[in-house]
Amino acid sequence: MNTNANSSLPKEKQRLRAQINKTLAQLHYDRRQIAKNVLENLLLLDKFQKASTFGVFIDFRNEIPTSLFLPELYRRRKGDATFSIAAPYCLDSDMIFYRIPTPVENADGTTRLPGLERSRYGVLEPNAQTRADGGALVQPLEFDVMIVPGLAFDHTGARLGRGAGFYDRYLPLLRPDALRVAVAFDEQILPEVPHDANDQFVDAIVTPSRIIRANRPV
Ligand SMILES: Nc1ncnc2c1ncn2[C@@H]1O[C@H](COP(=O)(O)OP(=O)(O)OP(=O)(O)O)[C@@H](O)[C@H]1O
Ligand SMILES: [Mg+2]
Repeated sequence: MNTNANSSLPKEKQRLRAQINKTLAQLHYDRRQIAKNVLENLLLLDKFQKASTFGVFIDFRNEIPTSLFLPELYRRRKGDATFSIAAPYCLDSDMIFYRIPTPVENADGTTRLPGLERSRYGVLEPNAQTRADGGALVQPLEFDVMIVPGLAFDHTGARLGRGAGFYDRYLPLLRPDALRVAVAFDEQILPEVPHDANDQFVDAIVTPSRIIRANRPV
């Protein structure tokens, strides 16, 4: 379980993905409370507080419900013209990020995300109108923060994703000083996550209960 060339690594990753997916499917949690706690912890990070341009994945299935904390994040930065949030749009093997319109909080606490629509895989992504808006496209070097999804993480910042390699290809394009922060349930933090040379590390992992700082000051 290290960076050595190891033919069993893909199998080990697959085994871990299945194990974590099973754990996540068995979790019972209050989505709003989880989102609130995760945002509170994110806001404790200096680089997060100071950031203007954010990249954020929109949660799908058992991921940390990022969509639920977006209205609060916008509210905190109301009137700040430098502030924006961009969400990923997936092509065959690449992601492109587009700024999204201000999310709306419904009376029942759920969130409406204008300018997004479900992809054929069911993930909410910037819709054609959002993508057509001149100025919506955000280049990788513009990001101050990237909120990263993932299935499992360890204390060194090693990350196991869902297996498509999207974030392994995207994260190296960010500025070196951009904050790469993952959000995850405590159950997704493992003693050690297997990784290879392509696997990108994160700087910190934020769970509902704590912040794990990996290798750099954040
Ligand atoms: N920088 C890269 N360039 C080209 N291919 C890559 C790169 N990084 C990863 N890949 C390929 O992408 C595939 C998936 O990688 P891996 O199993 O690490 O996915 P993952 O990190 O779990 O997924 P994701 O990053 O999408 O959450 C592998 O075939 C891997 O070789
Ligand atoms: Mg990987």
